[in-house]
Amino acid sequence: MVMGFTDLQFKKFKQVIAEGIGLHCSSERLSCFSMIAMERMKELELPPWAYLKRLEEDPTEFECFVNLITVGETYFFRDEKQFDILKKFVIPKYVQKAAADPGKAGKINIWSAGVSTGEEAYGIAILFKEAFKDFPLWTVSILGTDINTVSLETARKGIYQSRSLQNVCEADRERYFIQTGKTFEVCDEIKEMVRFERLNLVKGPYGAENFSPEGFDIVFCRNVTIYFEVAVIKRIIPWFHRVMVKNGYLFLGATESLWGISNLFHPIEFPHAFIYQRQNGTASEEMTFSVPMLVIPKDTGHPSELCTTTEPSVASPSVKNGPGQQDALIESRKAYEHKEYSKALEMLNDYMKRKTEDPEAAMLKAHILSNQEQYEAALKCLDVVLKKNNLDAQAYYLKAIIFSKMKALNKAVDQYKKALYVNYDLAMVHFKLADLFRISGDRPQANRHYQETVRLLKTQEEQSEVTLSDGMTAGALINAAHLALSKMEEPGHE
Ligand SMILES: C[S@@+](CC[C@H](N)C(=O)[O-])C[C@H]1O[C@@H](n2cnc3c(N)ncnc32)[C@H](O)[C@@H]1O
Repeated sequence: MVMGFTDLQFKKFKQVIAEGIGLHCSSERLSCFSMIAMERMKELELPPWAYLKRLEEDPTEFECFVNLITVGETYFFRDEKQFDILKKFVIPKYVQKAAADPGKAGKINIWSAGVSTGEEAYGIAILFKEAFKDFPLWTVSILGTDINTVSLETARKGIYQSRSLQNVCEADRERYFIQTGKTFEVCDEIKEMVRFERLNLVKGPYGAENFSPEGFDIVFCRNVTIYFEVAVIKRIIPWFHRVMVKNGYLFLGATESLWGISNLFHPIEFPHAFIYQRQNGTASEEMTFSVPMLVIPKDTGHPSELCTTTEPSVASPSVKNGPGQQDALIESRKAYEHKEYSKALEMLNDYMKRKTEDPEAAMLKAHILSNQEQYEAALKCLDVVLKKNNLDAQAYYLKAIIFSKMKALNKAVDQYKKALYVNYDLAMVHFKLADLFRISGDRPQANRHYQETVRLLKTQEEQSEVTLSDGMTAGALINAAHLALSKMEEPGHE
């Protein structure tokens, strides 16, 4: 029982929140929400069951409760790396279009979903305003939506405290804000580009009645789905796809990924962040794509120097192996597991004469070669794996291990980071990355990744095996992370 709810009422409460707004709640969040519900019950003088019924049946009370539980932290240009990609990679594509035919009027439609108090939408408007100065015939229309009507009121007013403007440069502050005492109001020419509407993202599919019929060129939905049930994310991504133009860009939060969720968008990786691009088929066609392909440009360190294929690549359908061939692969794996590396390699080489680019075989070969300390050859095999599917976190992970063994620590760090781009929840990768940061003397980063290891594992059964760990239990890895954290606290530790 939690805070005055019986177990049954608590279950109902959880269900009302999950179905109503898609939130997946940890027990901590739920008990916090139930305290808010208790307050409402007191104000309305309703007992628990009557309040739960009211929540389900009365949209006004539901809105009031949702306003209390969905307060969203945000500020201008939150996650500058993503805004850098918008400014230096995405916007120039539209500027190019405008420059190609300066006499022609054009329109760009943008949606900031889960806009909270509006800073994200106004930030986008400022960047477009700057970039489109020379193209007055072009219109940029930005829609900001959120479920929280109180946040939306603040958004419409567009008045902020200086804390919200921490990432706004002095020139933009002067140009696009009117300061009155300690507050800053967005100027009219920026406000005119943006409109705000209430929209519950989990109640779709969204149609043209909510939006512009042309479809959105760019969608931002950052730090919103992070608390949604996976099933809910799987449901809403096709709705996003539906309201976007071909090749439109989707920005999710830094820790949100579509890995294992949808192939409707393909990721474009930049040195420090991902964005997604809409695939071109209909939702049902796109669902048949087997492997999402990632374009990993050379690590130039500058998004504007990066490029992507104009047409997203699609993995060729996998060809099933014949039974005899498959047996050879199985036997080779068995030999590898018995640490008979030469025998395993011999069988695998034989198999790979016919299947040179089989990713499963290439991955096994990489493991074998790595155990034989043939690191360069192992890395080549992993490149084969990544060529087929460059969202293979395990391949990045193994590359990182190999680079560590080769004492190429910076390269190892890069590969661990890539594994985390693909799947942020890999506790083992956080742990290994933390170790490398500790060795290189970067205490804050080491601290952060050890903490992430513990955070990700603490909801798991102590005896459960950690992914990618080769048999280590969650309990053991948590202890190891705690130990490393306490060692770093010891006096004299660099
Ligand atoms: C952390 S804020 C994100 C603000 C901004 N996108 C950013 O990244 O800075 C999350 C927002 O998602 C909104 N939200 C949560 N559930 C929602 C839902 N089901 N439909 C629409 N918005 C929702 C919240 O009200 C909140 O304003």
